[in-house]
Amino acid sequence: QKIVLAYSGGLDTSVILAWLKEHYDAEIIAFTADIGQKDELEGLEEKALRTGASKVYIDDLREEFARDFIFPMFQAGALYEGQYLLGTSIARPLIAKRMVEIARAEGATAIAHGATGKGNDQVRFELGVAALAPELEVIAPWRLEEFRAEFPGRAEMIAYAEQHGIPVQATAQKPYSTDRNLLHISFESGILEDPWFDAGNSENKDMFVLTVAPEDAPDKPEYVELEFEQGQCVGLNGERMQPLEVMEKLNELGGRHGIGRVDMVENRFVGMKSRGVYETPGGTILFAAHRRMESLTMDREVMLLRDSLIPRYSSIVYNGFWFAPERLALQALVTESQKNVTGTVRVKLYKGNVVAAGVKSPVSLYNPNIATMEADPTQAYNQSDAHGFIRLNALRLRVASGVGQNAE
Ligand code: ARG
Ligand code: SIN
Repeated sequence: QKIVLAYSGGLDTSVILAWLKEHYDAEIIAFTADIGQKDELEGLEEKALRTGASKVYIDDLREEFARDFIFPMFQAGALYEGQYLLGTSIARPLIAKRMVEIARAEGATAIAHGATGKGNDQVRFELGVAALAPELEVIAPWRLEEFRAEFPGRAEMIAYAEQHGIPVQATAQKPYSTDRNLLHISFESGILEDPWFDAGNSENKDMFVLTVAPEDAPDKPEYVELEFEQGQCVGLNGERMQPLEVMEKLNELGGRHGIGRVDMVENRFVGMKSRGVYETPGGTILFAAHRRMESLTMDREVMLLRDSLIPRYSSIVYNGFWFAPERLALQALVTESQKNVTGTVRVKLYKGNVVAAGVKSPVSLYNPNIATMEADPTQAYNQSDAHGFIRLNALRLRVASGVGQNAE
């Protein structure tokens, strides 16, 4: 038997690797998706082999992540509960997809992951696998009674790691859990479980990885121009770029100016509320610029329709239904809605803010001649028409008022 394990090299997945080997008569294939977690990937292959993996995959999926996952989601304007740009949520389906491909190539019959069993990630991994390869068995050790009995706390895991020759991180364990990729880094649990704890306090500066604190950002603003074609950012400051490059450059710019920190209490799919802190520097710039591009180029009713679907789309992604028919159907609508979202947006980055600083488009729907308070040379809008327009819209209000309905 072969099992493909989603492996990060952290304590949990290291222990799980060794534990699976001990409890299943199977070869364990460790798989790590490089989706932009940078230095976390150092020494991973060797570590996995030393921990007992029969084979290690570390696949660079960054371009695919940016192009086929992040960008389509940003076309939709997805934002979960008004704040979260879904940095972890959008990565899980890609990891599941690649895990399935590896399982098939290797003839593995099961996949395993180290999600805690209390959160969203288990759902996302497993819904992805169910959609793409329902024949695969899923092993989630944290959901097994015997595993939890063996590891009631971190101390037992560290002891187990030492017994099994697993190199435990020399660096002190951080008092919170993180998840990093090209779009964001998340911080949860540990000291963050108290929502009254101010994560941005000056004593906690070291937690943040991708951004400086807004108050420490340069006093001088910086401008950036984003080129859009059909709702996709295709270049920055006049230079054409692939999605991965766009994200990397925007992360650097946003990070320098303290952009994209979010601290919230969110609703997990499994029913509980959970406190999360996020840094999404590039995504925050992209989100704001894209919205501004739409303001000039998107039809009003198309915008209203698409906007009304943002909470739905975002929940679908958050809850792990990326490969479900409803996401694909919505995506088709989103793609259609973006056909005219083309042009250039200029924003000013300043101390945590993304400030509008200009927008233009060859297919702009904005017509200053029509909107002007001066005489309109095009005569497209006749003020006299507004009289009837308002009268007809007022009709039902007049009738209701006549029977006393509008009274407070
Ligand atoms: N709460 C966020 C989400 O559900 C972040 C989850 C982070 N996951 C992790 N394994 N640390 O998308
Ligand atoms: C986990 O449970 O592994 C992390 C948190 C989550 O998935 O929501």
